Amino acid sequence: MTAVPNARASGTFRLGGDLPVHRLGFGAMRVTGPGIWGDPTDPDEARRVLRRLPEAGVALIDTADAYGPFVSEDLIRETLHPYPGTVIATKGGLVRHGPDAWASVGRPEYLRQCVLMSLRRLGVERIDLWQLHRIDPKVPRDEQFDAVRAMRDEGLIRHVGLSQVSVEEIEAARERFPVASVQNLYNLVRRDSEEVVDHCAREGIAFLPWYPLAAGALARPGTVLDRVAERMGASHAQVALAWLLRRSPVMLPIPGTGSVAHLDENVAAARLTLHDADFAALDRAGREAWEERRRDA
Ligand SMILES: NC(=O)c1ccc[n+]([C@@H]2O[C@H](COP(=O)([O-])OP(=O)(O)OC[C@H]3O[C@@H](n4cnc5c(N)ncnc54)[C@H](OP(=O)(O)O)[C@@H]3O)[C@@H](O)[C@H]2O)c1
Repeated sequence: MTAVPNARASGTFRLGGDLPVHRLGFGAMRVTGPGIWGDPTDPDEARRVLRRLPEAGVALIDTADAYGPFVSEDLIRETLHPYPGTVIATKGGLVRHGPDAWASVGRPEYLRQCVLMSLRRLGVERIDLWQLHRIDPKVPRDEQFDAVRAMRDEGLIRHVGLSQVSVEEIEAARERFPVASVQNLYNLVRRDSEEVVDHCAREGIAFLPWYPLAAGALARPGTVLDRVAERMGASHAQVALAWLLRRSPVMLPIPGTGSVAHLDENVAAARLTLHDADFAALDRAGREAWEERRRDA
């Protein structure tokens, strides 16, 4: 592995057709306190992580108003504004009442409040990629989509993304506005969004897998993940990221960390190329682990 890892090696994807980013991005949820609540335990290290992103070639930073809440967006503004060459993707539509507590609020006036306050916190006139954090089941979804469309039409949002959605929901949203990205839970051993990944690939929509580093039972010694990692001189996290990058050309992983050492390790995965046989073996083992977990649930 090179001494100077760079996310450029992961290739480029054009978000919404016109915003180029390197495929390996960064998730800024972990630059907050325990339970994604309050300030990070080591604020100086969190600042060092964020400041390192541009030099590491990371051109896509995922955040949300709910991370902290507000802590992640505030730190991004403090360390990186005005974001030359970097796309800041934020989200709204979830409220926080304490550590690890999350609740959807999709009322149109609240979604508008989210966007206006993210604009102010991030210090921008338009949000490059604003993602509806969740479709609120308590509010008619078309009311939520219409509110988002209005803000896009007004120029407050450049591109719109969705989070934790099905193919049917993506297509319902696309009747109101173009969908540039989808962000669902997805990793080697969480495969419930296979159909969504393939749909996004067909439609040219970016797929941002969240919790990308998890390897579940495959993290144990002696598994195919362990063997591939050892043979390549790589870590489990790096192989998990390499598998995601290989899984689909629209895959934009956003691993998160509050540590510079972990950031460098994750970015170095950009240039890790899996052999066909290793990719297939990991794919198979991941599916089996996922199916086993579902059977036991
Ligand atoms: N749309 C949604 O609903 C949703 C939900 C969750 C997350 N997200 C987004 O997805 C991003 C990623 O998700 P995530 O943070 O849950 O999962 P993740 O990136 O897979 O894992 C992050 C965890 O792994 C640790 N870590 C990072 N790099 C490591 C490495 N090289 N070796 C060992 N441990 C490492 C981090 O701890 P250290 O800080 O100690 O490194 C942290 O505890 C978030 O930042 C956020 O932007 C979105």
